[in-house]
Amino acid sequence: MPLRSSQIPLRRQPDAPARQSFDHLLFLRQFVRHPLRVGAILPSSARLAKCMLEGIDRRAGMRVAELGAGTGRFTAAIAEWLPEDGAGLALEIDPVFVDRLVGRWPRIECVCERAEHLAEVAKTHGWGPFDHIVSGLPFASLPFETTRLILYAVRRSLQSGGTFTTFQYVHGWHFPLAGRFRREAVRQLGSEPTSKLVLGNVPSAVVLRWRKPTATPAISGDAVERLH
Ligand SMILES: C[S@@+](CC[C@H](N)C(=O)[O-])C[C@H]1O[C@@H](n2cnc3c(N)ncnc32)[C@H](O)[C@@H]1O
Repeated sequence: MPLRSSQIPLRRQPDAPARQSFDHLLFLRQFVRHPLRVGAILPSSARLAKCMLEGIDRRAGMRVAELGAGTGRFTAAIAEWLPEDGAGLALEIDPVFVDRLVGRWPRIECVCERAEHLAEVAKTHGWGPFDHIVSGLPFASLPFETTRLILYAVRRSLQSGGTFTTFQYVHGWHFPLAGRFRREAVRQLGSEPTSKLVLGNVPSAVVLRWRKPTATPAISGDAVERLH
C-alpha cells in the first residue's frame, strides 16, 4: 500500500550550517549574474521543500524528476523522502550549481541540462516516464517560449496519473508571466491545479500541483508544431 508523505516524518535537512551559508552566498552571487534565470536571492526554505512533496503518494520503485535544482534544497528533501528503491534525476542549467550537487545523493543523478530537454535527457540516461516532476524553476521571470517548451517536456515525460508540482511567490502571483504560466500549464496538462499557501518561506509562496489525467487532451497541431 502506498505511504502518503504526511505519514513520513521528514527529518531536518542534514546540511551542516557551513554548507548552508556557502550555498546562500553562492545562490546570491549567481542571482546577481543571472537574475531572471535564478529568479530568487535565496534558496527555498526546508518548510517549502517539505510542502512540495506533501500529499504525493510514495510507491516502490518510483521515479522523480527535479527541474532547476539550484543548490539542492528540494533535491535533499527528495533524496530523504524517496523509498529505498526509488530514484531521481535532477536537471540544472547552471554548471556552478551542478558542481555542488553531483555525487551528493547516491539515488539522485544530477546533470547540467536545460529543463526543456527533459524528455531527451531522460531517454539518454535510460529513464522511463516519471511518476512525479518537481520544479523550482522561476516561471514568473523565464521567457514565455521557454516556459512553453518546459511544460511540453513535462507533459511528454510524466506518467498518466503523475503529478507536476511547482511554486510561485505570493508577491509575483499577478505578474503577467506568472499568470501565463498557470494558464499554459492547465492547457498542456489538462487539469486544474491544487494550491497551498506556504508562509514559512521568504518570500511566502504558493505550491501548485497538477495531476496528469489518464487521457491527456490533445493540444492543437499548430501549438505542438510551434513547440518543437
Ligand atoms: C528559484 S531557483 C530554485 C532553486 C532550488 N530549487 C530552490 O528552490 O532553492 C531556480 C533554478 O532554476 C535554474 N534554471 C533556470 N532556468 C532553467 C532551465 N531552463 N533549465 C534548468 N534549470 C534552470 C536556475 O539556474 C536556478 O538554479
